[in-house]
Amino acid sequence: MDPKKNAAEEAVKLVQDGMIVGLGTGSTAYWAIERLGERVQEGLRIQTVATSKRSEAQARELGIPILPLEDIERIDLTIDGADEADGDRNLIKGGGGALLREKIIAAHSKRLVIVADESKTVETLGQFPLPVEIVPFGANLTMLRLAALLGHPRLRMDGDRPYVTDNGNWIADCRFGTIADPAGLERELNLIPGVVENGLFIGMAAAVYVGHADGSVSVR
Ligand code: A5P
Repeated sequence: MDPKKNAAEEAVKLVQDGMIVGLGTGSTAYWAIERLGERVQEGLRIQTVATSKRSEAQARELGIPILPLEDIERIDLTIDGADEADGDRNLIKGGGGALLREKIIAAHSKRLVIVADESKTVETLGQFPLPVEIVPFGANLTMLRLAALLGHPRLRMDGDRPYVTDNGNWIADCRFGTIADPAGLERELNLIPGVVENGLFIGMAAAVYVGHADGSVSVR
């Protein structure tokens, strides 16, 4: 019994014929995509957009119809994972490196539903390092600005090279400690030239489906 799988499968019950569905990224969203694949085989008629190349490839393998983003004008429901979720459904995302596409899709979704196991639920955000996507040009200077905000940034590496996002950018993982004012921090981060986006998702999630060790799923 996998709590991530249970949460994902419960959330997929929200998907109905005719919807345009946003596909999240990560090990929990993976299960949602798998279940959607089964439902499509059973006759569910949906179209989807993906938050990463990885999720797009998975969906294609399962025969789930994928649309290019430029072809859509609405997204009805997005099901995605999170690295942390607080009691107000504010989130840290981007552990898997897909935060920019995830945030664009989330912002245009009528409904964002998060799927997670209970290890992701927190009182206050900030234990998980906050991913900040930055442009490679002048990255050292951008990192200095993140350090001045007390973010203790570390460039995410892929072996001996910087990790490169689907958008050709880099990621600085920041340790701000307890984030008392996530909305304020989000604004400050996005004012730094060179910062493309950050992993704080504030007031975006309509529901968080939490899978528990006993097999149950609760909804926040
Ligand atoms: C991807 O960039 C992330 O935002 C994921 O949604 C997040 O890291 C959760 O991933 P898991 O479900 O693998 O924990």
